[in-house]
Amino acid sequence: MQSNGLRQVDEALKKMAARLSATSLHSLMHEPERSQFIYQFEDLTVDCTRQLLDEDGINALLHLAENCQLQTRIDEMFSGALVNITEHKPAQHMAARTPDHLASVTYQKLSTFANSVRRNPNITTVVNLGIGGSDLGPKMVTQALAGFHDGPVCHFVGNICPTDLHDVLVTCDPHKTLFIVTSKTFTTTETIANAMMAKHWLNRHGVDAGPAMVAVTAAETRAQAWGIHPDHIFAFADGIGGRYSVWSSVGLSVMIAIGIENFSRMSAGAYAMDRHVQHTELAQNIGVIMGLLRVWCRRYLRMPAYGLIPYDQRLAAFPAWAQQLEMESNGKSVDRQGQPLQLPAGPLIWGAVGTSAQHSFFQWLHQSVDITPIDVLVATHPAAGLDEQIWHDHHKSLAINAVAQAEALALGAPNPAEPHRHFSGNRPSVLISWDQTTPYALGRLLALYEHITVISGFLWDVNSFDQWGVELGKQMANQLQSGEGLENFSPAARAFLDRLNTLRT
Ligand code: F6P
Repeated sequence: MQSNGLRQVDEALKKMAARLSATSLHSLMHEPERSQFIYQFEDLTVDCTRQLLDEDGINALLHLAENCQLQTRIDEMFSGALVNITEHKPAQHMAARTPDHLASVTYQKLSTFANSVRRNPNITTVVNLGIGGSDLGPKMVTQALAGFHDGPVCHFVGNICPTDLHDVLVTCDPHKTLFIVTSKTFTTTETIANAMMAKHWLNRHGVDAGPAMVAVTAAETRAQAWGIHPDHIFAFADGIGGRYSVWSSVGLSVMIAIGIENFSRMSAGAYAMDRHVQHTELAQNIGVIMGLLRVWCRRYLRMPAYGLIPYDQRLAAFPAWAQQLEMESNGKSVDRQGQPLQLPAGPLIWGAVGTSAQHSFFQWLHQSVDITPIDVLVATHPAAGLDEQIWHDHHKSLAINAVAQAEALALGAPNPAEPHRHFSGNRPSVLISWDQTTPYALGRLLALYEHITVISGFLWDVNSFDQWGVELGKQMANQLQSGEGLENFSPAARAFLDRLNTLRT
């Protein structure tokens, strides 16, 4: 529900959007003082000069932030207030990366176990069984920090599709494999089914599943009831949402892969971003500016999608992680009071790694009728270990491509004589760059995206911490599985079920 003040700000922003949509990015980008749209935190540079915004535009957006009492909302979240109002929970993911947490008994227990696995010559492979936030975060981070991976091989199995687990198991030695069953609720069908299969597989090979299985969960009693030994359960706080959970014990597989020091560095990077977001004035606050841009593009410029293009092969899983983060958080159509939203909230988030994406969907980004803003993410230096000049040159070509695409999208190239070669330009992007993808830099980047998600959620006034929209499909799958209430399904669904039931093994 909008107050009068908010309605006025909203109207002003609609007018601002109409005016700025009619201007050209080409002229905006060449205005003096354009560098005010480049934001800096440590070596992280967030270049928003290619956004359809001028000084009046950004001031109007900052006015929106004030009217939404954004600073108060941010402070409430950091203070542990029950910001997840439908579930009466705080948002505790930031607490999992504070120096206090890194000095806690919980962290000590987790890191001691991770070290014991790393040192154990009889464990060569770790398989994380989890889905959604219990999979995407640890998988993405393990891939992103592959250069720091000196522990056992790590696999991630999320899907209930049999091939996901099967294709990993055929590569594993049952006598040397540790399974981490990662599930906040310990009720998720896919994860429990995969854990059961893993247990059978161990037993079939004469291995006692007890020592070979550990659990990461916020539901310790359920994990114990399922058969995990209490010493093998690594709990995390119930106020940490799955998609925000990689910092907690959900990161156990990452810790085993890259070691405790590197994991702690990643947390330190995230903590630094937390301090920046909590304590920097709104006008210079990178999380706030990026959150405002989400709202600007989606609500006022009416651009329903948002692309994420990391120029880093090891960040290939980043778009999928951020997709769950933003879309499960902000894909909502009622506000926190349960009232229908006047205007749509969270955009469709999607993306893929550059430069490969340039040779697939960039055609659409450059010339489609729809305009879709993107974040272009790139480190200025190659990954650690690629120190020779030839790798630096190789990496330079990558980074040049990143900026070239951002420029091409924004500036375009008019060609009235050959319409098929005409580039309209005026397609916004943000160029996000940092020195090198270290654990610290990655932690800082991931925390930034968490804050973008939550801050845009605050501005849209949705609850970014629940995910009721996933429940109905789960419930209907359970009904079909048990055969209860089939009369509520369509004839087509019942016919499909009949076909499945008549399948022979
Ligand atoms: O179905 C959505 C979801 O609840 C996500 O929010 C969560 O990350 C995922 O399932 C896995 O849940 P859990 O960790 O409880 O198994």
